[in-house]
Amino acid sequence: MNIFTDDEWVSWFDTLSNKDYVVIDNFLPTALYSRIRHFFENKLKEDAFRKSAIGSLFNEQIIEGVRGDYIYWLDKNKDTDLEFLFKLLDETKNMLNRYCYLSLSDYEFHLAHYPSGSFYKRHLDRFNNRSNRMITMILYMNEQWQEENGGQLKIYTTDTSELVAPLSNRCILFRSDALEHEVLLTRADRYSLTGWFLYQPAGLGYMLTNS
Ligand code: OGA
Ligand code: NI
Repeated sequence: MNIFTDDEWVSWFDTLSNKDYVVIDNFLPTALYSRIRHFFENKLKEDAFRKSAIGSLFNEQIIEGVRGDYIYWLDKNKDTDLEFLFKLLDETKNMLNRYCYLSLSDYEFHLAHYPSGSFYKRHLDRFNNRSNRMITMILYMNEQWQEENGGQLKIYTTDTSELVAPLSNRCILFRSDALEHEVLLTRADRYSLTGWFLYQPAGLGYMLTNS
């Protein structure tokens, strides 16, 4: 059973293909959203987050001054409380393949915590040494977010830019190879689930770039 109807997916993908991104407010049914939010809180309590690096799941490099978030990579085999989320990610992948004619085969997702005072400088999510990220998906999890907290996602299109506040249960999908973006300085803890749909299994890109 899918969570969303084909019509919902098609209308989101229409915007995604016209604008290279789509923002979807009140994305998940509340109960599912809360489960991810609680999972996030538990991982914070367990001190499971690590300083982020530039690169991807299997190819990371810490470069100071580029990004200041702390992340926890999700693992389908260990994070079984999130089985419903992996089902939703499978659904998203299948719908992208069906309606956007992509050939995605996998995804990699992490939780991200930007402490007050952190940011992520302007960048593209597709790295030149490893080019299998096709679509970025972010779910923001910040209740009572205030404008003065900053921390917006700034997205750059050819002639303009737009600010997206990291409001709870707001989802954004965008083209990883096409859309430059940055996270503006946040003045409060900023929580999200962030990931990428890939056209090869997560491990293979690593093998190819190192062969
Ligand atoms: C990233 C990123 C944006 C955000 O993790 O690559 O750009 O709004 N995140 O969290
Ligand atoms: Ni990014």
